[in-house]
Amino acid sequence: MTTTEVRAATTHQRLLDWVEECRQILGPDDVHWCDGSEAEWERLCASLEASGTLHRLNPDLRPNSFLARSDPADVARVEDRTFIASVDADDAGPTNNWRAPAELKAELLEHFRGSMAGRTMYVIPFSMGPLRSHISQIGVQLTDSAYVVVNMRIMARIGDEVLAQLGTDGDFVPCLHSVGRPLSDGHPDDPWPCDTDNKYIAHFPETREIWSYGSGYGGNALLGKKCFALRIASVMARDDGWLAEHMLIMSVTPPRGPKYYVAGAFPSACGKTNMAMMVPTLPGWKVETVGDDIAWMHFGEDGRLYAINPEHGFFGVAPNTSYRTNPNGIETLWGNCIFTNTAATADGDVWWADLTPTPPEGLTDWRGRPWSPGSGEPAAHPNARFTAPASQCPSIAPEWEDPAGVPISAIVFGGRRARNAPLVTAARDWRHGVFLGSILSSETTAAAEGEMGRVRFDPFAMRPFCGYNMGDYMAHWLEVAAGRDPSRLPQMFWVNWFRRGDDGRFLWPGFGDNCRVLRWITERVEGRAESVETPLGFSPTSDALDLSGLPVPPEDMDELLSVDREAWRGEVDLIREHFDSFGRHLPGELWEELALLEKRLEA
Ligand code: OXD
Ligand code: MN
Repeated sequence: MTTTEVRAATTHQRLLDWVEECRQILGPDDVHWCDGSEAEWERLCASLEASGTLHRLNPDLRPNSFLARSDPADVARVEDRTFIASVDADDAGPTNNWRAPAELKAELLEHFRGSMAGRTMYVIPFSMGPLRSHISQIGVQLTDSAYVVVNMRIMARIGDEVLAQLGTDGDFVPCLHSVGRPLSDGHPDDPWPCDTDNKYIAHFPETREIWSYGSGYGGNALLGKKCFALRIASVMARDDGWLAEHMLIMSVTPPRGPKYYVAGAFPSACGKTNMAMMVPTLPGWKVETVGDDIAWMHFGEDGRLYAINPEHGFFGVAPNTSYRTNPNGIETLWGNCIFTNTAATADGDVWWADLTPTPPEGLTDWRGRPWSPGSGEPAAHPNARFTAPASQCPSIAPEWEDPAGVPISAIVFGGRRARNAPLVTAARDWRHGVFLGSILSSETTAAAEGEMGRVRFDPFAMRPFCGYNMGDYMAHWLEVAAGRDPSRLPQMFWVNWFRRGDDGRFLWPGFGDNCRVLRWITERVEGRAESVETPLGFSPTSDALDLSGLPVPPEDMDELLSVDREAWRGEVDLIREHFDSFGRHLPGELWEELALLEKRLEA
């Protein structure tokens, strides 16, 4: 496909020079500066339909929406091909794949050279966060994928207004992306071009650059999200005293007010989107959504922590999103969406497990093959995604784009743990909360390639997303609060919606009933929740949780809130190993907290 060259609406010389330098290396036929307009969206979607990448959904059912089917080998983030190329290997730490920057750049340049031949190079200026927010940051992504452009238009603010904000010398993070499938070899294009055997998601923290090669999948290719807003931004946040986190942001309003804001860190595909859009089952309680995946947080002059959602859309996991689990999520998807790797219905709509109680007749699976319920394979890929405008969410908070951010009262950490982790625990103080965040663990999910269901430590749900040594990251969490008025700091909590009984069933109903836990959390913020001390922190007393109308038997509640000392002694051994892996980078305060936990378990 070729487009006429569209010139830059900028005189920012550093940007123009960088684009020209990349053009010479990548060798595209054309350069197109994205203006972010509706007309551009329509033109690109039409060309993606022509190339077979996008299939327009039935406009009567889902207007202005499309389905993409990826290459079956390009369906998730590739953690083993994700690199943190800091100058010193020690700065990447034991949770990241380190490569020497000069060597990695040389290797990648071999792949990038000529990789856009026969294609258009799109230049996407984008803002992470509302324009004119002191917390927001600007990036510019170069890509040879029109699919990436149309997704980026949903996920970030893009185009001319961003260039205007950048001015003639503003800072931006250069983000280079190619699917790695030049068209000069005489072969026709693929509907989902990629380079299966040579994927690289490379980050250069010192120079704040991102180079992504070979994949078109969201987390690898929409570079504003995981690559910038978490990996590079976590480094910026360390250097400049703020926090870039893998957290949802929601408000919780009790029947008589006031409104509280909660941030929540959960590993990928553990229900963050559902929680951010929760419909509370407790009468009179209200939840609104500010963000479902990422929070950037700065301390205000009043000593409180203010958060923005740097994104403009949701890139959510489709399977198991339904009217039962997330009605606001489903309503968000009425139109203007891109679906990737879902199943398709005979009447031109999308489908995934649980969307309807029984699958409709005549489904086509995520690979484009006829599907029937007995096939033994899922109709939609387990990591099938929707890309949807956040503004369409019925529960979106009116203040979600407030450039000042929203003041956070509580931070919640949660993993997917069948055993040991109780329903809810309040941290004793900030330091103890950082300890709970540092030992967060979860069973692995389909959001990343690799074995599923294995328990791994995922500190602050940031293990795949921290752009530097996670030991230093934990120290940063302690440092940002040092010397601050503790009464202004958010309180910290640990939750687990996923505990199972011996018979394997979930003990807690989850979803809208999680507001019962949020109620206790807000009462604790107000200093009036009934609590008992456990070796892990503070738990609700047996009657402190509002369980009205909930058919959870008392023995299950006991199990949900219990701390099994014997099992936790086993966990302590694992935590010691986990901490040891960070060597001298692990802050001494966390070793002290571990010693205190051990002592409490003996008591
Ligand atoms: C995501 C993820 O896409 O965490 O949000 O993988
Ligand atoms: Mn995520």
